[in-house]
Amino acid sequence: MKVAVVGTGYVGLVTGVVLAKLGADVTCVDNDKAKLKKLREGISPIYEPGIEDLMKQGVEEGRLRYSDSVAKATKESDIVFIAVGTPPMEDGTPDIRAVKAVAREIAKNVSHYTVIVNKSTVPVGTGELVTQILREEGLTDEMAEVVSNPEFLREGSACYDALNPDRIVIGANSRRAASKVVELYWPVQRPMFITDLASAELIKYASNSFLAMKISFINAISRLCELCGADVQDVAKGLGADARIGNQFLQAGLGWGGSCFPKDVSGLITVSEQFGYDFKLLKEVVNINEDQTINFMCRLENRLGGLKGRTIGLLGLAFKPNTDDIRDAKSLAIIEFAKARGAKIKACDRIAAENVKAIHPDIEIVDDPYAVAEDADAVILVTEWAEFRNLDLAKLAKPMKSKVLFDGRRLYGPARAERAGLEYHTIGSGNGARLFD
Ligand SMILES: NC(=O)c1ccc[n+]([C@@H]2O[C@H](COP(=O)([O-])OP(=O)(O)OC[C@H]3O[C@@H](n4cnc5c(N)ncnc54)[C@H](O)[C@@H]3O)[C@@H](O)[C@H]2O)c1
Repeated sequence: MKVAVVGTGYVGLVTGVVLAKLGADVTCVDNDKAKLKKLREGISPIYEPGIEDLMKQGVEEGRLRYSDSVAKATKESDIVFIAVGTPPMEDGTPDIRAVKAVAREIAKNVSHYTVIVNKSTVPVGTGELVTQILREEGLTDEMAEVVSNPEFLREGSACYDALNPDRIVIGANSRRAASKVVELYWPVQRPMFITDLASAELIKYASNSFLAMKISFINAISRLCELCGADVQDVAKGLGADARIGNQFLQAGLGWGGSCFPKDVSGLITVSEQFGYDFKLLKEVVNINEDQTINFMCRLENRLGGLKGRTIGLLGLAFKPNTDDIRDAKSLAIIEFAKARGAKIKACDRIAAENVKAIHPDIEIVDDPYAVAEDADAVILVTEWAEFRNLDLAKLAKPMKSKVLFDGRRLYGPARAERAGLEYHTIGSGNGARLFD
């Protein structure tokens, strides 16, 4: 089957290489010339484990190519994916201008029956909007139809996720359009769930908002733990052992960030408002998430007696390990908080540092994690990269001005930190659990 994927970001590129691996003939399209140059040189513009191997395999086997022409790719394809960004606007509403622009360009170039698959995360009703664009360009159902196929991959394990999805959601208005997409995904051999356009669009928002809610819930519990002497890790273990609840997304920490949760939660809130529903629950999920980082930083500020003139070392900047994505990363909120109070920042993240440096050119980037501790008044563990797990904490403590460690991801535990001579602060820890650490 001939497929075009428009947008070669985290979702589009992964979708393209995975479909090529599964046997489709794929053209990945982007309007960013610099990205295309890198792709043609075999270099992935994003950090994603395994992606360059899949790119190489696809190109060598003749099933993957890159293009800047939506028109040409559309004419040659049976299925065209839209995988462009839908960033939030000022009020939280998803900006779907790129989706509409690409849909229009596709519509102008359809030459035979084509299924336009919306993979971008879009508000309910966007599938109908794209259908309207097709109609405006004179295309009937006989020539072009729209399918919603939201993506659930996680950055950092995106290739694996795309090859092993829990489910494939297909929203369509006709059996013909849905069948085409079922056929494409058939080699994945994973459960497929076929529904209408609106339900498919909503499933994506509901999934991400539910996961964000779970994290905010355990973070709210973490605040209570700090006050009442319980330990959130033990509470989460006991809670998650209940099969009805499950143990995933119950890791207390600095809160959720990244390119999806913040955007999709605020997207669901604003879309609900447009339909006349005030989603108060989700508004509180957002508030808890913002408070979590602020509370953590206020604790640091209190401990150091102010941040003016202090040097703060940051271990990790990416919004989570195994990605270079820093969109809505907690590191950014931490840097802003500290800089606003006159602190100096030193940070180490071998993969994401450049992206943060582009926003905060005044922070000092170091390659060696131990270098963040030199003359630092405190070190904060922000992202739990594997390389930080096994740090020699005594070596970290040695060059610090004051030996204060704020662990935003509960990576080290008090006993290990204190053995290394560090004063340890973390999230959701009362006194009780120290006995068992
Ligand atoms: N990143 C994730 O983990 C993830 C997961 C699931 C769903 N999503 C959703 O998938 C969509 C894409 O996300 P992403 O993270 O891949 O975004 P991204 O910003 O990494 O990639 C978007 C790509 O689209 C290209 N583009 C924009 N306008 C274009 C046009 N007119 N013609 C051709 N190319 C164009 C950009 O140059 C860019 O390469 C979003 O709606 C997002 O919410 C993302």
